Amino acid sequence: KNIAIIMGGYSSEFEISLNSGNVVYQSLNPSKFNAFRIHIFKNKWVYVNKNDEEFPIDKNDFSTTIDGEKTKFDCVFNAIHGAPGEDGFLQGYFKLINMPQTSCDMYQAAVTYNKRDCLSVLKPYGIKTAEAFYLNLGDVINEDAIIEKVGLPCFVKANKAGSSFGVSKAYKKEDLKAAIDVAFKEDDEIIIESFLDGIEVSVGVITYKGETKVLPITEIVSENDFFDYKAKYLGQSQEITPARLTAEQEDKVNTLAKKVYEILKMKGFSRSEFIFKDGEPHLLEINTVPGMTKESILPQQAAVAGISLSDLFGSAIEDALK
Ligand code: DAL
Ligand code: MG
Repeated sequence: KNIAIIMGGYSSEFEISLNSGNVVYQSLNPSKFNAFRIHIFKNKWVYVNKNDEEFPIDKNDFSTTIDGEKTKFDCVFNAIHGAPGEDGFLQGYFKLINMPQTSCDMYQAAVTYNKRDCLSVLKPYGIKTAEAFYLNLGDVINEDAIIEKVGLPCFVKANKAGSSFGVSKAYKKEDLKAAIDVAFKEDDEIIIESFLDGIEVSVGVITYKGETKVLPITEIVSENDFFDYKAKYLGQSQEITPARLTAEQEDKVNTLAKKVYEILKMKGFSRSEFIFKDGEPHLLEINTVPGMTKESILPQQAAVAGISLSDLFGSAIEDALK
């Protein structure tokens, strides 16, 4: 089978995606899959061969022509974090051209990529979340109203972004303005959430060999202010898998993460983030194209579950092809 591993994308997570895509490329079992690296960049979509030569992608059928010969793909492995791989755009395009792909469908990607909308879809199901205040670009900013709603410290986040781009923690009223400016650089919508002071965990829920599977939970202990970009990728955090939870906490968050996956009718990979407050896990967000870099959490969880990367990625492709 010819597998197109798509990587890059149009967002700040571009480099991380290349990193994830290359991990997938190196892990796929060559006796089962013929892997092709496809760079999806703002200005070009190209197949990149071993010698880094580029061949354009025909967007009519997502094929490429190599030395005069048309090459078609059987399945796309989606390794694009952020736009347009995690927000539904490529899911819609691949659906239209009848191309199997490994991530969830268009709606699930679009709704989960929008932190605000995802949390409001899930709230009626009893999923707990932090208090939040929303702003669109151009809105009048009333710091007192924000603080009254979410308290201090609080988190200011770009509504549609990943890898903590556009996220800051504000400790006092005077920090808000700068934090809001940083978030608006990433997105024209922002979400300001109350700080939940408790154990933070990351839960991988995936479809593995046709079944929904919750991977061992990871506890995040950041040396920084929060689990920011440096903590995620430059080793400035401790990620402990399995998390040091009581059996009750573990059961609660496992059940909740699986429930969220099922409510939204997800498929493929997902990794959701929760913080315990008053004994209850509160949902922060869901990632549908979780990082697959060497530093990323989901590969660590798979390793603890005894699943090799080759099996993890191979199973996603086989499920997508069903
Ligand atoms: N957005 C990053 C890649 C993650 O969720 O792992
Ligand atoms: Mg994220």
